[in-house]
Amino acid sequence: MESRTVLTGIKPTGAPHVGNYAGMIRPALALVRRHPQDRYLYFIADYHALTVVRSADEFRQLSYEVAAAWLALGLDPQQVILYRQSDLPEVFELNWLLACVTPKGLMNRAHAYKAAVAANVQKGVADEDAGVNMGLFNYPVLMAADILLFRTDVVPVGQDQVQHVEIARDVAGRFNAAFGPVLKLPAHQVKGGVGTVPGLDGRKMSKSHGNVIPLFAPRDELRALIGRIQTDSSPPDAPKDPDASAILTMYAQFADDEQVRAMRERYLAGISWADAKRALFEAMDSFLSGPMATYHDLIAHPEKMDDILADGARRARDLAAPVIENVRRAIGKTH
Ligand code: TRP
Repeated sequence: MESRTVLTGIKPTGAPHVGNYAGMIRPALALVRRHPQDRYLYFIADYHALTVVRSADEFRQLSYEVAAAWLALGLDPQQVILYRQSDLPEVFELNWLLACVTPKGLMNRAHAYKAAVAANVQKGVADEDAGVNMGLFNYPVLMAADILLFRTDVVPVGQDQVQHVEIARDVAGRFNAAFGPVLKLPAHQVKGGVGTVPGLDGRKMSKSHGNVIPLFAPRDELRALIGRIQTDSSPPDAPKDPDASAILTMYAQFADDEQVRAMRERYLAGISWADAKRALFEAMDSFLSGPMATYHDLIAHPEKMDDILADGARRARDLAAPVIENVRRAIGKTH
């Protein structure tokens, strides 16, 4: 089979939690294992984070936290090109060139922007665009640049990012229509596995809901957080629906298939929530003990990550060079 280029961006939003692991990290690493012949670019979308980040220390730290987490959880930087978006000036050049062929109306219809406007309207704020910076408005164009810079074939994303990949296809088509067939239209691929993991309160696990279980919390904190997962008041020995249990959904992220099958039986036979939580803690604790040590070592020695990220940026720029060269030539920049 021919080798494909697979690219995805990781928005650095703080120490990764179980929801990030289930929704993005685990499926992205599984993809590499399943199709080792493909080319992988997984990058930290640090400039995308600047639509909200307003502190230099936070900006720096956020990238290290995601890099450390992915490396600790098994990303092999030889096999996957891991880099920071901001280390590739070509991305930002392409961002502008794409912005110039992107209709403003298309951006008006992008989900994140529409949600910000809807929130203002709902709050009765007079200016619909209050709190919206141009980075947020332009977000899908920058993302298109990330993707199109590498003649990407496949963009594995969660459901919430599908529209962005469709926008990238649309924008690539418009660029090609104007300047010739230079850019490759990517396909999205919604990751299999768990779409959303419920958080402590049953809503989708998300930092903004304050209901997350961090992957690299100290053991006592992890045990306490698991204890706080909301459960119903069914009696301890009552049978429980394995498909409706947040605890089992999380358990399945860290236990092997055989353990999950056995745990489903225990749910059906009747398991107390205390025992279910204990089993989850034990599965997470044993799965994460190795990654935990690696994670903390990397956080303590960011220079190790600097080397990996610099090497990734070099390899990524080598791949991007002929593409941006073609783009420049296509628009008439021949000097
Ligand atoms: N927007 C993505 C997110 O919020 C991150 C991202 C940035 C991305 N650039 C990308 C994803 C390019 C895939 C391809 O998670």
